[in-house]
Amino acid sequence: MPGKRIDLPPGVLQPRDAVLRMAPYSPPTGGRAGKLRLDFNENTVGASPKVIEYLREHLTEAGLAIYPEYATIKQELGKFFGVEPDDFILTNGTDEAIQVLINTYIDDGGEVLLLRPSYAMYRFYAEVAGASIREIPYRAQKLELLDAIHPSTRAILIANPNNPTGTGTSRAGLERILEKAANAAVLIDEAYYEFSGVTALPLLNDYPNLFVSRTFSKVYGMAAMRLGCLFSQSGNVEFLHKAQSPYSVNTLATLAAHAAIQDRTYIEKYVTEVLAARELLYVGLEKLGIPYYESKANFVLFEAGARAVALRDELRRKGVLVRDRSYEIAGCVRVTCGTRDQIRRFLAELEQIW
Ligand SMILES: Cc1ncc(COP(=O)(O)O)c(C=O)c1O
Repeated sequence: MPGKRIDLPPGVLQPRDAVLRMAPYSPPTGGRAGKLRLDFNENTVGASPKVIEYLREHLTEAGLAIYPEYATIKQELGKFFGVEPDDFILTNGTDEAIQVLINTYIDDGGEVLLLRPSYAMYRFYAEVAGASIREIPYRAQKLELLDAIHPSTRAILIANPNNPTGTGTSRAGLERILEKAANAAVLIDEAYYEFSGVTALPLLNDYPNLFVSRTFSKVYGMAAMRLGCLFSQSGNVEFLHKAQSPYSVNTLATLAAHAAIQDRTYIEKYVTEVLAARELLYVGLEKLGIPYYESKANFVLFEAGARAVALRDELRRKGVLVRDRSYEIAGCVRVTCGTRDQIRRFLAELEQIW
């Protein structure tokens, strides 16, 4: 469908049709500091203190003057993830991983399969690229997705666990998709891997169409740093490199990653705490008779019914941020699991207004 030139105000330059057609995506980006942030699935207590310590010690005027260098951190991260440095690129968050994948494999009109609902940025980057997008209703069994794969399918983007449902797909389920979609780039976005323990990384050698992304934004508490990794077989990685801006990951992010992967205990403790908080949340929701989706991640989608938006707003007034998702699953609100104390506070506020 061509764009409508007549809708543009005078003096505004005509953008590409793909951009004109897009619905704006505008997540709340201000006024969150100081509130109980249970709306973006971040680490709710922050990065390991060792990350800050390391940054303080290693940030120098000379260091800031030099363009980023990646060889050392790639060696370290390769070891950490159990792959070779040639098997991945560093990215400016998962978001850039999605963008680079689309830029590498999707021509104008190329077919991209997405699940609905899922992470909004898949659609965003596919739309910017002018892809032909097919959205398949999300079901635990993924049978609809398997049926939807054609020889013309160029990419399939899947979050495992999925956001906002929190539901997961087994490795066997992913293999069925990879086998059927041999001509497509299949991205398995593992932003919440540390909470689910299910990963497709060991399948990398078996499937040349497999791409796996990881991020430092969630359990590592480094969303502000914007750092992720995109893994695939080295032959594919060469092309990802070719399509990527050479310095999109900054030096601070590489320093922070160096320190973050040393402090495994911090991450393990946080995961244990979140899983305990999630149990507490289930019990609290059940007590109030609120249906919810069992989650494999650090967030839970629950059914607030017709009051979803009002509930979100009432909680916000009390300093507790949650995310309304009723625009994609009727009546649903998503809440991030932080510590048990944070979930107790959330439940106490919820009980008062429910
Ligand atoms: C499935 C999924 N992938 C990726 C991200 C964002 O990752 P990043 O901060 O690394 O761009 C999110 C954040 O909400 C997410 O839910």
